[in-house]
Amino acid sequence: MEFDDVIRKRRSIRKFLSVPVDREKLAIICAAGNEAPCAGNIANWRFILVDDDEIKHKLANAALEQVWIASAPAIIVVCSEPEKVKQFYGLRGDRLYAIQSVSACIENMLLAAVNLGLASCWVAAFDENAVSRVLKIPDTARPQAILPIGYPDEEVPRPMRFKLEDITFIGTYGWKMEFLDAFLRNYYLGDKVVNASKKLLDKVEKKMGISKKNNDEERPTSFIGKVRRKFKQ
Ligand SMILES: Cc1cc2nc3c(=O)[nH]c(=O)nc-3n(C[C@H](O)[C@H](O)[C@H](O)COP(=O)(O)O)c2cc1C
Repeated sequence: MEFDDVIRKRRSIRKFLSVPVDREKLAIICAAGNEAPCAGNIANWRFILVDDDEIKHKLANAALEQVWIASAPAIIVVCSEPEKVKQFYGLRGDRLYAIQSVSACIENMLLAAVNLGLASCWVAAFDENAVSRVLKIPDTARPQAILPIGYPDEEVPRPMRFKLEDITFIGTYGWKMEFLDAFLRNYYLGDKVVNASKKLLDKVEKKMGISKKNNDEERPTSFIGKVRRKFKQ
């Protein structure tokens, strides 16, 4: 699958076909997680593969009774072992890096599942102690996410997201760009906007001390428009 399609197709799926998932595919998903960036290359993630029905039900109960979780043919519970990250980086390592690294791993896993025609959902609303008890997770590790995995049996619409222009700042936080296209420079929206954009562009370039490129003929379409169409925004 094309990279952009994988990104676009990934949605939280909570209904699965009762078709088993090959263990090989679960291994590919874990391997994708294991390629994620991680603080100090400590790779503090650990995976628990669950296919036992009784355990699945116990996990669903521990996850504040999200019963749908038990209907997934497979579950991967992603844990974090924060100790070494804490040793290396102190409190920031414990509270931020350990969690960020495992989160990057989880996202890789979700995307790998989509690439294999599977689906999942990042589940983190659970009683940590209860999950640890069910899976015999020692005190040195924390369950960070439950990933129910299976072939999707529902299509969910893309949820609302903010417009890129509203959440992308130029140079400093809060410095919003009305015409983000102008800043991106390679594409312009049309004559009227070109003029407005150029003014803004001058301002931005002056503020940021960057030089101007001048190949207006090669700027036929809106870059943001293209991005939006690609990701169906
Ligand atoms: C940290 C985190 C925790 C989440 N926990 C749950 C959860 O416990 N149960 C659930 O059904 N979805 C959970 N989700 C999924 C979100 O509800 C979902 O990602 C969001 O609504 C956006 O939808 P999308 O994933 O289809 O883009 C969680 C997502 C994240 C990132």
